[in-house]
Amino acid sequence: MGARFARRWQLAVAALLGLLLAGCATGRLDATKPVGQEARDIDFLMRLSGWMAVGVGIFVAAAVFAIIVKFRAKPTDDPDDLPPQIHGNRKAELTWTLIPTALLVFLTIFTLGTVFDLAAAGTGRTIKVEGQQWWWQFTYELDKDEIDKYNLDQDGRYEIVTANDLVIRTGEEVNLEIHSNDVIHSFWIPQLNGKKDAVPGRVHHWRISSDEPGIFYGECVEFCGLSHANMQMRTIVLTPEEFDRWMREQLAGQAAAQVAPADESPEAAGAALFETHCISCHVVDGVYESAAGGNANLLAGIAPNLTNLMSRTAFAGALYETYQTGPDGAYLRNPDGSLKLNVAELREWVRNAPDMKPARADNQQGMLDFSEVLTDQDLDNLMAYLQTLGSPPVLP
Ligand code: CUA
Repeated sequence: MGARFARRWQLAVAALLGLLLAGCATGRLDATKPVGQEARDIDFLMRLSGWMAVGVGIFVAAAVFAIIVKFRAKPTDDPDDLPPQIHGNRKAELTWTLIPTALLVFLTIFTLGTVFDLAAAGTGRTIKVEGQQWWWQFTYELDKDEIDKYNLDQDGRYEIVTANDLVIRTGEEVNLEIHSNDVIHSFWIPQLNGKKDAVPGRVHHWRISSDEPGIFYGECVEFCGLSHANMQMRTIVLTPEEFDRWMREQLAGQAAAQVAPADESPEAAGAALFETHCISCHVVDGVYESAAGGNANLLAGIAPNLTNLMSRTAFAGALYETYQTGPDGAYLRNPDGSLKLNVAELREWVRNAPDMKPARADNQQGMLDFSEVLTDQDLDNLMAYLQTLGSPPVLP
């Protein structure tokens, strides 16, 4: 009986330790290393309340200990001799009511200040964020100044649509307009701000910013079905010059995608396969219109827009890296300095996606299994075509 009890106890401790360690597993999600004002405000509040709790904890523990020692029974005490019995003590009751009240009021002032601060709109651009099972889409609409700056047609409407990688620049207070296209998700980049739900039929506004360039990781934090844990995203923070280059390359990628690759090349064969198998879900700007006879609504939109696929650091809900990284996470490069495409996983993803990320393709949630449809030659051609879509990512 005793041994069994000890065993259970050990198991309970092991389970608790396991849970504790699981919390450390994803070192890429760390709210204690804020890089922008919003996350710093939250971090301050967390530390303030944390240290106040530590202070209260130490005070209470010390008081309990002191009372135990001071009023402990002595061998000379008569066990029937009770201390004086009292009812109520106004001084003590006021003390233990007023001190916690003052602490909570103090904390409330800071909390409310932060809540209102975080709700305010930023001064920078607005980016539309759309959560869906199980990936994030980001849409940038170019304003008049940018249309001017990049020498675009003044009457046109220009959008850059991307997935997984949210690209922003340092020092800009970016306004996110958070939508959901199916169920409730929640957007969280811990180093940039707290969590914000994406709720169908509603628009939630959220602000992020970063003082330093870098890649900051995030995940969907509202259980949203089968691949909830695989619904990741990252924010790539660039300097203003790098961001400008990224913009230009996105626009160049859009223009280039509309020119069909040359005949007889693997790229052209891949483009033809893409029009047969892929465009009922995936948009490549300028390509699907021709295939749908101009009726773009018939096709595309439930899967990532692939126009600038090569410019993204990740695919499949940011579950896989587009380019190869070493054990330390640094990008591997070819002898000419270019990034090494993660061709093995990208190819496997196109061949049999459900094998790499649980999904319900039969219910328009996730990519279909093409392993019975595409030959090895088809896959090679498709990979050749996909590599024409956009420039390599601009890295911080
Ligand atoms: Cu989307 Cu969890």
